[in-house]
Amino acid sequence: MFKVVANWKMYLTIEESKLLAARLVKMWEKQECNNVELVICPSDLALSDVSAQVEGSPIKLGIQDLSLSPALGAFTGQTAPQQLKETLARHVILGHSERRKFYGVTDAMVEQQLHVALEHKLIPIVCVGETQAERDNKRTDQIITSQLHSIFEHTELPDYPFYIAYEPRWAIGTGIPVDPKEAERVHDLIRHTMIEFHKDANKLLHVLYGGSVDSSNILGFLDQPSVDGALIGGASSKLEKLREIVKVLQKNVC
Ligand code: PGA
Repeated sequence: MFKVVANWKMYLTIEESKLLAARLVKMWEKQECNNVELVICPSDLALSDVSAQVEGSPIKLGIQDLSLSPALGAFTGQTAPQQLKETLARHVILGHSERRKFYGVTDAMVEQQLHVALEHKLIPIVCVGETQAERDNKRTDQIITSQLHSIFEHTELPDYPFYIAYEPRWAIGTGIPVDPKEAERVHDLIRHTMIEFHKDANKLLHVLYGGSVDSSNILGFLDQPSVDGALIGGASSKLEKLREIVKVLQKNVC
């Protein structure tokens, strides 16, 4: 099943989030496609309202970051797994490059968040990816393996599906996605690295690609055997753009 994770970032107000969720539910009802799974990740403040909108539909919910603490407590500005579970959200994006860039999130913190997520049986979507400078210096593979090493090597993997998103930082929000063949190569590297840490890792691992995905380029990623889905930011926060993406998927995977 091809997975589409819609990262709405901080693009929408609460009302806009509710409206878009309601429209997506309608759109999903009309399309007869069991081969695409949609996970919406709105901003935390919109989560309860969006949760009410998608209730009873096959659309899944997630959030964009998670507390470092497994317990409720004095953690200003954080979202606890316990709070998440009061909504329908079960997916959590961890280590997104915007969290790393603007809020100082490190691999060590992502590892800790991953442990919190797994302790609470949440479904992690862990983001890894290189900067433009690292790519220019041909350090992509080194950066990816080092991020995976820090986050996963000492983590017991869940006995349910989990996700790693390859998100080259230079491709996010720029309109320039990575070449699908290069995505395939890096996805293979991710799988092999994970297998080195945990020999059965590949059984439940799904690898997503993220960075400037839209209806004009998603087919190229769909064609790659190692790409299990897409993490989509900008194009997922506008109904028309998401509708176009779903149309392409319907034609090709449903
Ligand atoms: P983009 O964002 O699709 O707007 O490039 C992807 C992401 O940040 O997850």
